[in-house]
Amino acid sequence: PLVPVILSGGTGSRLWPLSRKQQPKPFIPLPDGENLLRKTYRRVQNLKHAGRVLMVTNRDYYFLSRDTLMEIAPGASSEVSYLLEPQARNTAPAIAAAALWAQEQVGEDAVLLVLPSDHLISDHASFAEAVSRAMDLATQGYLVTFGIRPTAPETGYGYIAVGEPLAGGYQVQRFLEKPARAQAESYVADGRHYWNAGIFCFSAKTLVQGMAAHAPEVLMPAQMAYEEAQVNGDTWWLGAEFAQSPDISIDYAVMEHAENIAVVPVSFDWNDLGAWSAMGQLLPEDSSGNRAHGEVLLEQSQDCVVYGSDRLTALLGVGDLLVVDTPDALLIARKDRDQDVKKIVDRLKRSG
Ligand code: GDD
Ligand code: MG
Repeated sequence: PLVPVILSGGTGSRLWPLSRKQQPKPFIPLPDGENLLRKTYRRVQNLKHAGRVLMVTNRDYYFLSRDTLMEIAPGASSEVSYLLEPQARNTAPAIAAAALWAQEQVGEDAVLLVLPSDHLISDHASFAEAVSRAMDLATQGYLVTFGIRPTAPETGYGYIAVGEPLAGGYQVQRFLEKPARAQAESYVADGRHYWNAGIFCFSAKTLVQGMAAHAPEVLMPAQMAYEEAQVNGDTWWLGAEFAQSPDISIDYAVMEHAENIAVVPVSFDWNDLGAWSAMGQLLPEDSSGNRAHGEVLLEQSQDCVVYGSDRLTALLGVGDLLVVDTPDALLIARKDRDQDVKKIVDRLKRSG
């Protein structure tokens, strides 16, 4: 059985000020009106072999998650189990807890398909085909990643060096999370690297073994938190021990160290709405290269991304700017600094 695990507990700080603690990235209505969580849920509904969906999120987002599923169908929320974190500790402990849940609730050889809720993938058929190749490799004991052909030296992604071929994919020689710019450039140039799509497939058992070997400091608190969970119907409120895990992603905690990693190269369109440049891609482009949303007026300005609010935003004589207006916060940045927007959020957090 395949257990789709949807992660939606991140804060999406690079999309500030649109993405906020009160309404993080998976829940923001996109220009087409649908949010990312809902898109992710619809993507897994079409998968063969998929059983009950496990939603892993922060307890603060429990109601936002339920509301989103209610919008799809009144019954959708009852086809989902929830694993709620008392505190955000990044993806490693969230995935560890999901694997422990699956081992107990579904069985030792349950195969997990871990899906971040920050992607746009519109080709559902090609996605499903890649998942079935990944499931085969997962049942052979691999930690399976999905590889995207890199198009630019992005530093916000993981890079996968391909090794020997396997049926349906390749062995992974090396996994490197968020490399420095120069390294990313050489990886894109050598043609032997993929971007990590951020989607993973593995059996619960393989993941727990990998965690025990490479990140016991993550596995232990996750295990205690799961054992101490308050269960209420289909909802598991993880225990306070969860917060004792270090704040670390699965990429750093396991993928950079494990040797049994495989990659399934994929051909589906993939857009990670990680930062504002990616969000801009969703907006229509005018003849001067500007992309705008909302009440926006652009005069003699080029290559800007402007996300306006209900009031009018006007730009005159500027280029390569990122402007995001919300009722209580306004961001103005150079467009090429969009990965650094989280520095602003970090400062806001520090100053309380
Ligand atoms: N439940 C839960 N708890 N979910 C979380 C948490 C958490 O504490 N932190 C993040 N998430 C969710 C986010 O909501 C998102 O859907 C997903 O996990 C991935 O987290 P990101 O913070 O967006 O990761 P990233 O984009 O920096 O990097 C990952 O994705 C890239 C592709 O999009 C890595 O896997 C990279 O290697 C990969 O290239
Ligand atoms: Mg992301």
